[in-house]
Amino acid sequence: MSSNADFDRWLVMCRPGFEGDTAAEMVWRLGAAGVGGHARTRDGSGLLEVFPAHGDALAWLQADILEHHVFPRQICAVSAAVEDLPASDRLTPLLEGWQRPVAEALVETGEGDGHRELGKLTQRLTGPLKGLLQERGLWRPEDSAALRLHVILDTGTRAWIGAAPQRVSSPVPGGIPRLRRQGGAPSRSALKLDEALRYMVGEDRRYMDLRSGMMAVDLGAAPGGWTWVLRQWGLGVYAIDNGAMAPGLASDPDVVHIRADAFTFEPPRRVDWLVCDLVDKPARVVELMARWLRRGWADRALFNLKLPMRRRWQAVADAEQRFFRVLGPESSKFTLTFRHLYHDREEITAYATPTA
Ligand SMILES: C[S@@+](CC[C@H](N)C(=O)[O-])C[C@H]1O[C@@H](n2cnc3c(N)ncnc32)[C@H](O)[C@@H]1O
Repeated sequence: MSSNADFDRWLVMCRPGFEGDTAAEMVWRLGAAGVGGHARTRDGSGLLEVFPAHGDALAWLQADILEHHVFPRQICAVSAAVEDLPASDRLTPLLEGWQRPVAEALVETGEGDGHRELGKLTQRLTGPLKGLLQERGLWRPEDSAALRLHVILDTGTRAWIGAAPQRVSSPVPGGIPRLRRQGGAPSRSALKLDEALRYMVGEDRRYMDLRSGMMAVDLGAAPGGWTWVLRQWGLGVYAIDNGAMAPGLASDPDVVHIRADAFTFEPPRRVDWLVCDLVDKPARVVELMARWLRRGWADRALFNLKLPMRRRWQAVADAEQRFFRVLGPESSKFTLTFRHLYHDREEITAYATPTA
């Protein structure tokens, strides 16, 4: 199929093993938008094709019908995959008929079976792809309204080519952020909060919403990866855990370690941030978060929910309902978003923030 044809589907990337959950979410979102559609998955691939029942798949992305999606890491509008790409020149057949100007171009692949070994090839093709677009006068890096081009390799000879608005798809290949654990962080969990602050709070907002002098409560804080990240932003932290905090944090005068049960602890004052990384039933955690916000104990909450092994999209929907049921009359004051972040694995991150 010519790559210049209308796009009839979305290519969605997710954590391998979450294809069914991602499909359930996408089909639900298409239904909620009044469009309808279906998905085609391949277990373990980390890739799925989602077919809106009608209309141009790119136009639906431009209409923002997927705002605040949870499981997709990457999404773009494509046609059917191009097959039998010659190893000597994969890009010419892929770009055949392509006429859309673009501001960015990514060559990416999934995280699933057989994809990892394609990583080097994606890197090798990125420069030449941009070169070809330049030659054809389609390279517009300054144009914020132009599309982002995506080439997604399924194998060395099979790939999709497509596009998405820059605000919709991820600017990093596969939607996988390359965050490095910073020296001094006492646990790998620090990366989870770092990623959440970048991609859920947002690069711009986090400079406003995380300021020196603010106070946070960290429930289930030990050994202190999240507390450490909050300290890097200048916040003082009440760290609640019966376990020990890492030595650097235990001696930090701006960290108050309180050995208490997170489910009964009451803060000595209202705090700016509540964060919570407890390994417990999602229902218990979500109710705890909603109670804190309903009582006005914290301005916002960022927390993890451990997911069940099956029907995870249903678990997300249940958690959202439960959260607002417990918030009751305060519901309109908060917006709740969920995201399956790269560092999350079998959990998702939730962010409840005051409604603008
Ligand atoms: C996944 S770890 C948290 C890791 C931490 N966010 C970090 O970055 O280092 C979960 C923690 O929750 C604590 N925990 C579990 N149940 C708790 C409870 N009811 N009250 C307080 N802490 C609890 C455990 O002791 C454990 O240290």
